[in-house]
Amino acid sequence: MKPLSVMLSMLAIGITSSAAMAQGASVPSANLPNVSPANSDLVNKGAYIARAADCMACHREDYTGGVAIETPMGSIYATNITPSKRYGIGNYTEADLKKALQKGRAPDHMLYPAMPYPSYNSMTDEDISALFAYLQTVPVYDQAPDYKTDLPFPFNIRTLMLGWNVLNIPATTPREGLTETQQRGEYLVDTLGHCGTCHTPRNSTMGFDTSKYLSGAPLGSWYAPNITPDKSSGIGSWSEQDIVTYLRTGELDQRAFAGGPMGEAVAHSTRYLKNEDLGAIASYLKAVPAIQTDDKVTAVDASRLPSPINESITHDLVAQKRYLAEAKAEVANGSHSPEALYLATCASCHGVDGYGQPDAQYSPIVGLSSIRREKPDALVNMILHGIEGSTNTSPIMPGFADELNDEQVASIANYVRINFGGLTSSDVDAADVNRIAVGVDQRPFLIKYAGLLAVIGIIVALVIVFFIIRAIVRSRRHQ
Ligand code: HEC
Ligand code: HEC
Ligand code: HEC
Repeated sequence: MKPLSVMLSMLAIGITSSAAMAQGASVPSANLPNVSPANSDLVNKGAYIARAADCMACHREDYTGGVAIETPMGSIYATNITPSKRYGIGNYTEADLKKALQKGRAPDHMLYPAMPYPSYNSMTDEDISALFAYLQTVPVYDQAPDYKTDLPFPFNIRTLMLGWNVLNIPATTPREGLTETQQRGEYLVDTLGHCGTCHTPRNSTMGFDTSKYLSGAPLGSWYAPNITPDKSSGIGSWSEQDIVTYLRTGELDQRAFAGGPMGEAVAHSTRYLKNEDLGAIASYLKAVPAIQTDDKVTAVDASRLPSPINESITHDLVAQKRYLAEAKAEVANGSHSPEALYLATCASCHGVDGYGQPDAQYSPIVGLSSIRREKPDALVNMILHGIEGSTNTSPIMPGFADELNDEQVASIANYVRINFGGLTSSDVDAADVNRIAVGVDQRPFLIKYAGLLAVIGIIVALVIVFFIIRAIVRSRRHQ
């Protein structure tokens, strides 16, 4: 008899049990891999700042860089920030690091704001000193990342960032009337954690739209939801403890799950923060202005959720296997039954009743906020494109864009929203799926037409210069 986990992972298409180490609750918390008693206090403090500021999400756990930040203008690659003199920041002084973090200026070039310097702008000198001391102790890596940033004209002119910086730094101003704990929370959210980078919508110049602070923003095929205390579209119904649990473990039972980019933020950063710091973040998030958006989220109605796993078929693996095989056969024979589609496509990982395959670490999806939103976009995108594991050992969810047609995706989305999300109705149709699959162009006007505008700008500049010179020449002639 094979162990349970092996059998479960056989059910899960293409995923081995060794890959099934989730970043969920089982991960030991508050235990910093790069903090050591052998280090000075300053270095250990720097290691903690690096965690809180999530440098690893982009520069990787070993700071060798190479993670691509997808922007509307093209991919920007995070650089090697180990103390390599040739490929890293080995020649940096502390003042250089301060300029890079706060102003987006490397010693010989301007940085793109894919490096979140608009948020790091208000990082304190003490924190920068600690980070500097810590980064000196990181193992040297004498190689450049595999890819180099190569944006199209005019974005390859890095000095253009000077103009952008004038408009967009600092990104936020401190709020009045906060308690000391909330002020710490504000520093963690705005400066170190740069939560607004994903959760605050952008204005026409790609700076933060501060009037919509933390009220949710699109993020490629993801959506970073509203995290203001609004009850209908934000996290107003969450207690401070809920926020702490979510940031510590990446999940909130039958309520929310940190997938994709948020999974990374939890895996590399928030799960390592001290309790008092997570508490400060939670307390601050309760104190920011509540903003209502049209991305409403239906409250969990526990009475409409399926009953938990212990009475379910999921525990009888042989029966389950047969059950899923039958559903697959039904779908292959052209069945349009939403239940059969769900069972055939999703149940091998998420379970017949949505409670997941816990032994193989597949997440339960019952009650999650991502399937309770009025807009089905985030869910449809997950089904189409899948979800990358947040660390290289977490399980992934494959995308089904090539396997399912628009109607089937819509059918599964409706099934999941009603049966596991507790919605009373859901009417996603093929046209919705098509609209979401095609995607809207999220680029603000200035960015979309920057090439054109730059050309127009150059022509206008030439015309102006022409008239100025002509005026000068004429006035000379008349003298
Ligand atoms: C959201 C992603 C992201 C995070 C988080 C991030 N960086 Fe960066 N960083 C980048 C990118 C991308 C670049 C390269 C930008 C460019 O090419 O203009 C960069 C560049 C840098 C540079 C300039 C290196 C050079 O080329 O001279 C330094 C220094 C740096 N980062 C340090 C840090 C530190 C320290 C942290 C944490 C406090 C951090 N970064 C967090 C994305 C990030
Ligand atoms: C790299 C982008 C990114 C960053 C940085 C980020 N988030 Fe998120 N966040 C997301 C995405 C995307 C989701 C949706 C996750 C899902 O549904 O699987 C999310 C979800 C959440 C949720 C759950 C909301 C809900 O209704 O389910 C909370 C709370 C949250 N983030 C808080 C924070 C805080 C606090 C920070 C800063 C410490 C932060 N996030 C930083 C992208 C990000
Ligand atoms: C091979 C296994 C597998 C299959 C098949 C699968 N998923 Fe997933 N799913 C996952 C994993 C793993 C995660 C968690 C990813 C992470 O860590 O961010 C997940 C997460 C989710 C989430 C939570 C997303 C969030 O962040 O809130 C939803 C909803 C979901 N899946 C729906 C589906 C649906 C619907 C299907 C069928 C079309 C499906 N999944 C098929 C493995 C799978």
